[in-house]
Amino acid sequence: MNIQKLLQKKIKQSFLRNKIPKHFNPIIQCVTNKLNVHYQINGIIQIANILKKNPSELAKNIINMSELKKICSKITVSHPGFINLTLNVQWIQENLEKSYKCFRLNISYTNPKTVIIDYSSPNVAKEMHVGHLRSTIIGDSTARILEFLGDKVIRTNHIGDWGTQFGMLIAYLQNKKKDHVLKNISLEKLEKYYKKAKLKFNEEKSFLKKSKKTVVLLQSGNSYITKIWKTLVDITIKENQSIYDQLGVSLKKQHILGESFYNKLLPSIINDLLKRKIAVIKKGSVIIFLKELKNKLGDDMGVIMQKSDGAFLYISTDVACLKYRFNDLKADRIIYYVDSRQKQHFQQIEIICKKSGYIPNNFNIEHHIFGMMLSNDNKPFKTRSGKNIKLTKLIHESIERAKVIIKQKNPNLLGKKLDKTAHVIGIGALKYADLSKNRKMNYVFNWNNMLRFEGNTALYIQYAYTRILSIFKKNKIYPFNLKNDIILLENQEIILGIQLLQFEEILYSASKNGIPNIICSYLYRLSVSFSHFYENYPIFSENKIHIKYSRLKLSALIAKTIKIGLSLLGIETVDYM
Ligand code: ARG
Repeated sequence: MNIQKLLQKKIKQSFLRNKIPKHFNPIIQCVTNKLNVHYQINGIIQIANILKKNPSELAKNIINMSELKKICSKITVSHPGFINLTLNVQWIQENLEKSYKCFRLNISYTNPKTVIIDYSSPNVAKEMHVGHLRSTIIGDSTARILEFLGDKVIRTNHIGDWGTQFGMLIAYLQNKKKDHVLKNISLEKLEKYYKKAKLKFNEEKSFLKKSKKTVVLLQSGNSYITKIWKTLVDITIKENQSIYDQLGVSLKKQHILGESFYNKLLPSIINDLLKRKIAVIKKGSVIIFLKELKNKLGDDMGVIMQKSDGAFLYISTDVACLKYRFNDLKADRIIYYVDSRQKQHFQQIEIICKKSGYIPNNFNIEHHIFGMMLSNDNKPFKTRSGKNIKLTKLIHESIERAKVIIKQKNPNLLGKKLDKTAHVIGIGALKYADLSKNRKMNYVFNWNNMLRFEGNTALYIQYAYTRILSIFKKNKIYPFNLKNDIILLENQEIILGIQLLQFEEILYSASKNGIPNIICSYLYRLSVSFSHFYENYPIFSENKIHIKYSRLKLSALIAKTIKIGLSLLGIETVDYM
């Protein structure tokens, strides 16, 4: 049930009946600070001014011609032309019953689209570090939300598995290791070799030569070199997969479609761009000049698609990739979760693909940018010596810290149960800290803030869930099979009921802009409301049985909404804590 959408539709109909021109749309806003007003319709005053009508008169006419009897119990106009809506309790109850009965809370499906979400996308031969966390976590949550709403989501892990750096690394490894030994190398070791290879490349001419030769061999498909390359990719994929599994991120091996995949498509694209004079050759390089973007001198920005030595670049791959996603994968929407420093890169690929007709002019890619993780001193979150913090370390620390906190709360929780809970709480805290912030901003990573039982944390919401379940457990009642009716008597109950029904409109806003943080604040508010309600109206001291059971049912619905909401954030719940 999308209340906002329903009201929008009803009021729009009334607009038309009142001969308000088609391009005017009602603005429906949820109200939380007025007693007994749940929604407000704004924008009527402006419309009245334009149409030279009296706003309160117009507002009254809109009410008169709207069919809101079933949905609203009271509709008033407040000066000079706002419409206040009070939802009908009966109607709220009926819709809550429908949510309760439905495994997906009676949330409607969208008009399904094929959506490609490019996220995580780490580079081969390097360990994942905190820089990959935001893309991985926010991208994964968006994938879950869109899928839940009915889209066909294609998760894509665009790993950096191709490029001249592999010549260098393979040449280095050939000196150092036999290929059968390579198989047992850890990613950590591989990254060290990579750094050493880079130094050697800059210092030794003969090594530079050998590296370049190796690149040529790799690009021409030499089987021995390709085998070593494949091993490097496999080692990386395997270790990254273990991180995804620990984090509960839904990326699997089959979602990997890395840079190397597009390599074979590049020569024909370059030819095509040259033939159609979209690209030109300058000093041996293939370049596209973009009048839409200017360089520092104010001239059209030149983008190199192929270097004079024949090498392709990160951007050439992304042009081929965008073309492929649009034409072959038939994407209706393409979302990139890549940090804000690559903003210009994505502007360039979009302009190039439009210029060359690879995507239509009205197709806009969505680069969902995000800011950096900072330490308490507002500097980038790094180790003391200024290195990137590895994800494996971060995950481990989060789980250990969660364990300490849970043990304090419940010293009786031991063994496997403790481990499981610590894992769920630790990972939940890590993800929620990121998901609950506006993704466009930098955010300060602070262990103490994220692992608290109070405040806007995953733990607070997870605990609310566990608490509701324990109410049922203690009283030996199964929460999801209650036959009685929901009856909303107190104002707090009505508010809770409306909050529950608002889940759908929150999901739709989150899915439109890739902003799971609004789901976080929704779940937090819902948990707070439940907690206040439970304090004021203890369920088991209520002696009227139908009221008691109605409240139990409402509580069960809250638990179910929290569970589904958290699962869309990629966060688990536990039955005990
Ligand atoms: N591997 C890149 C990096 O680490 C991110 C790739 C993002 N996706 C893309 N299609 N360019 O910066």
